[in-house]
Amino acid sequence: SETNKTTDERLLSICQLLERHIDYYNWVGFYFADSDKKELHLGPYVGEPTDHTVIPFGKGICGQVALSNQNFVVPDVAAQDNYIACSITVKAEIVVPIFVNGKNIGQIDIDSNTADPFTEADERFLEFVCTQVAQLL
Ligand code: SME
Repeated sequence: SETNKTTDERLLSICQLLERHIDYYNWVGFYFADSDKKELHLGPYVGEPTDHTVIPFGKGICGQVALSNQNFVVPDVAAQDNYIACSITVKAEIVVPIFVNGKNIGQIDIDSNTADPFTEADERFLEFVCTQVAQLL
């Protein structure tokens, strides 16, 4: 039943819903911060497996969001110097932080195989998703 689902099962369901229903969301996953080690650790995701299951704060788009506490929209990943490529099919990325009691505890990371697909509507929508996620953690 829904009530017996673990947090990871719920997070995976969110990834699946987003990837299935929004055609330009092609890899959807969560990274969570280990603030002592200053690293992000990959949580539930859908899409191609990635080698980047641990990302130091500051590295790549995800690592920068761990430090900036702000959304990061990348219309063209080829134009980014601090970017970690997970798949050659990826053209764009959006990362939105998750706050619990005002602390940046992780993020949702979405890769797109479409160039420049993300609008402010995606940012507002994903901020809402992250507020809901924060309540199930
Ligand atoms: N591209 C990310 C790394 C994670 S993969 O997209 C799954 C980055 O630059 O941080």
